[in-house]
Amino acid sequence: MQILEARSLKYQDGAVWVLDQYLLPHQSKWHCCETVSHMQSLIVELKVRGAPLIGLAATLLVAYLAEQGETHKALAQAIDDLEATRPTAVNLMHCMNKMRQALSKPNYVSALVNTAEALFLEDIALCDAMAELGASLVEAGDQLLTHCNTGALATAGVGTALGVIYKAHQRYGDIHIWVDETRPLLQGSRLTAYELESWEIPYTLLCDNMAASLMAAGKVDKVFVGADRIAVNGDFANKVGTYNLAVLAHFHNIPFYVVAPRTTLDVTCENGQAIPIETRDNAEVRGVSGSFGKCEWAPLTSQVYNPAFDVTPARLVTGWVLDTGVYDQSFVLQHGLHKIQLV
Ligand code: MRU
Repeated sequence: MQILEARSLKYQDGAVWVLDQYLLPHQSKWHCCETVSHMQSLIVELKVRGAPLIGLAATLLVAYLAEQGETHKALAQAIDDLEATRPTAVNLMHCMNKMRQALSKPNYVSALVNTAEALFLEDIALCDAMAELGASLVEAGDQLLTHCNTGALATAGVGTALGVIYKAHQRYGDIHIWVDETRPLLQGSRLTAYELESWEIPYTLLCDNMAASLMAAGKVDKVFVGADRIAVNGDFANKVGTYNLAVLAHFHNIPFYVVAPRTTLDVTCENGQAIPIETRDNAEVRGVSGSFGKCEWAPLTSQVYNPAFDVTPARLVTGWVLDTGVYDQSFVLQHGLHKIQLV
């Protein structure tokens, strides 16, 4: 396989490397991943996270195992096992389906390697296309609110919603970003703040429950978020808390945009109710953990509600920024996203 290098994932020196996103921003540690079980735990523990990135990381590992001479049967099992790690982000299923198709070819080793390289490089191009299209929705002086982490850490390229923000900042300079901390796992405060800082884009961090008063004060011009799965009617799943923001934005008449590549669109999924939502461990809500250790403040026996994602209905979305174009609400409510050209 050729050398492939992204912000948090690379194929280098004949091995797959992932940057541990659980330890950021205070520790920068790369894991060399050589087995399915290791990659499974990296994904389940969110050391490797973000819809496009988990698909690509799993893909590179399968291609690596093929090059190492794993049997056809073992590779088929690896694809199934990796696909089962997280249920919501459809990019993982998209990548594993592409790898299954490659595995069905007579020359499957080279087919797997070529597919992995193509998916990785395609993601960079999709990010660039979304960033370009989405930045046209931003105006100089805008104050933008975002949720979770959708940047270069979560993709092979510049990111989805955060890629738009990066491009808009390059274009206009004076924009300001409001960053939701994103409880329970804090992807906003740990990862988005870290990325904006490294890009020297001015930002302010807020707890998720502060967005309403911020909007009421007239301090948010637009909201940009990513997606883990978009149904054909335009409903979409993203990090839990996104739906709250959509309701708030609707109430305050603030444009609300979702930014995602075509690989996040699930043409088999008619609406948001059909999107499987991952439920995670109780401890994530009872406390918090990271590079700083672990702290649990709630009673250890507390009942916990911890869906990792929520579904935002299409009627709350102003526009869908895909790599193929920007689709507004009237178009999507009338036609859905069936007609988008997919590969
Ligand atoms: O649980 P995570 O951190 O993998 O969730 C990530 C998100 O919800 C992102 O917003 C989404 O994957 C879009 S990333 C480009």
